[in-house]
Amino acid sequence: MDKLVIAGGKRLAGEITISGAKNAALPILCAGLLTADTLDLSNVPLLHDVSTMLRLLRQMGLQADQNGERVMLNGGAIDTLEAPYDMVKTMRASILVLGPLLARFGEAKVSLPGGCAIGSRPVDQHIKGLEALGAKISIEGGYIYAKCKKLKGTRVVTDMITVTGTENLLMAATLAEGETILENAAREPEVTDLANLLIKMGAKIEGIGTDRLVIQGVERLHGAAHSVIADRIETGTFLCAVAATGGDIILKNTRSDILDAAMDKLRDIGVILTTGPDWIRAQMSARPKAVNFRTTEYPGFPTDMQAQFMAVNCIANGTSQVTETIFENRFMHVQEMNRLGAAISIEGNTAFIKGVEQLRGAPVMATDLRASASLVIAALAAQGSTTIERIYHLDRGYDQMEVKLSKVGADIVRVK
Ligand code: EPZ
Repeated sequence: MDKLVIAGGKRLAGEITISGAKNAALPILCAGLLTADTLDLSNVPLLHDVSTMLRLLRQMGLQADQNGERVMLNGGAIDTLEAPYDMVKTMRASILVLGPLLARFGEAKVSLPGGCAIGSRPVDQHIKGLEALGAKISIEGGYIYAKCKKLKGTRVVTDMITVTGTENLLMAATLAEGETILENAAREPEVTDLANLLIKMGAKIEGIGTDRLVIQGVERLHGAAHSVIADRIETGTFLCAVAATGGDIILKNTRSDILDAAMDKLRDIGVILTTGPDWIRAQMSARPKAVNFRTTEYPGFPTDMQAQFMAVNCIANGTSQVTETIFENRFMHVQEMNRLGAAISIEGNTAFIKGVEQLRGAPVMATDLRASASLVIAALAAQGSTTIERIYHLDRGYDQMEVKLSKVGADIVRVK
């Protein structure tokens, strides 16, 4: 298993190009199941999760040609309506094939995704919504069996805001008969990006970007071309890296209007941010100030940025409180950060951080995707050398992070 070796204490300076958003690319690839025509996708990030999703879709018969960040899909020859356990267990987002398969073929057999490091992450709302649309669903032997001659539009109110739940139901509703209303819909930019693609494919959707999506079902969807939205979480991750190490970097091929809550916090930390239509410049020369925050659904402070900001709080001037309200176990990075000399204690879903002058390098272990990113940030700021094990977690959601960081002065190498 690969590991990263980082010699901390280097300021970051230069330019980093941001990749397309993992959490937009994954549902967008599944949208290829909704049409017999071709989808011409660009800015598709080169990530392990994207490769996993393409493998899953190909075994269903979806034609997928990947050429760098360009992916051509064609759903004209789909012959398997199943997502097997051995593929779903490595990536929960596989559940996103359920809605499209049901909508276009009236049938699906999808393995229940297991839990993961950050929580049990059930899919009961996906099932509730699809049953409301008329699907007959049973769960046997760890598989979801779903059948429906033709989905029928209706009003669905999910118990809580769910990103992939909204995406599954939105894709299903595009081919259902009549009108579907999704109340309590997720408003994440990645949901909006999927909706924008579906519109290009001929879907009729109103309320995009709001918590109420109104969809008029259509007979069929046609092909389209689309460029995946920039990854706001990768963007925020690199902004936290500069906040922790000090420096001056420009992030290119990104957006500055989809991570307001995180950018406001960075300004409170003391980072100077200037923005353009597709770039953000971050300058930092002082010790970070400690900031409190609690995670919530978009447009609030994103849970996917919690660990990265905690890394900055570890060396900040002052004490801080971080509350995680979305997942029940998303503090796996805390013990590892304490191994680097951080002073974090946890009470329920709140972490209390006492900023220390200096972290010290040590061997640590990645436990989940964003925890790995937070350990990279802590290691970049720490004195001495840090080794991060199990960085396959990092590779799921970041395209060659060590290469991008090396280009702006970090001393970071991948050891096979
Ligand atoms: C998406 O996961 C993202 N993944 C996650 O990003 C992100 O952290 C999360 O949304 C929250 O923003 C993708 O988009 C592929 P949810 P998702 O359904 O859709 C509960 C990353 O780091 N819930 O919005 O699985 C659930 O347990 C990943 O890139 C139910 O109880 O999250 C959680 O507590 C990690 N029943 C809360 O809702 C359901 O049927 C929000 O989950 C669905 C969700």
